[in-house]
Amino acid sequence: MKRLSPLFFFVLAFNFITLPAVAENKSPAVDKREVLVLTPMQREHVLDEMRALLTGIQNILGALAEDDMKAVADIARPLGSSMAGKAEDHLKGILPKHFMQLGMAAHQDFDSIATLAESGADSKAVLSELNRSMNKCQACHAHYQIYPLKSSAREEKNSHHGH
Ligand code: HEC
Repeated sequence: MKRLSPLFFFVLAFNFITLPAVAENKSPAVDKREVLVLTPMQREHVLDEMRALLTGIQNILGALAEDDMKAVADIARPLGSSMAGKAEDHLKGILPKHFMQLGMAAHQDFDSIATLAESGADSKAVLSELNRSMNKCQACHAHYQIYPLKSSAREEKNSHHGH
């Protein structure tokens, strides 16, 4: 049998050592967006809010397709600045000002969507406002990534020592 070349071992080592590390860390060397380092709890808090926004938009589109403006307002209102007030208080010192401003602007757009829907606007006007609002989703996602704080692994290990 032919001897395995050193290159084979190099490639093998690369796959086992390097690729999992990149996958776990979402290495900024690959993803060039600005890194926000958050604890797992803070990260979950932000992403939970994100998922609520996506679900909300889907439900708003469903309600618009039915021309149900009352439903549009009911869905949009809780995604407005009231949501930002609750969620962002304890992240204020941690997240950059630009991030907080973009986030607040996105929430305010949902206030406008709710107000439009309540004041008898047609679905085209609401869609146009939704489109404007989603520029903020797009702008922020293009700019930032979340990088979970590594110390969580240490904390978990320590808590296991107690048992
Ligand atoms: C102020 C910044 C900002 C705004 C505005 C924003 N997002 Fe995000 N969103 C983020 C960041 C940062 C992430 C994590 C991205 C990463 O780490 O790759 C994220 C992740 C997400 C995710 C993935 C959630 C998960 O479970 O992984 C969804 C869905 C999402 N955003 C939807 C939205 C929608 C819809 C909007 C607009 C209505 C929006 N976001 C507006 C910053 C923002």
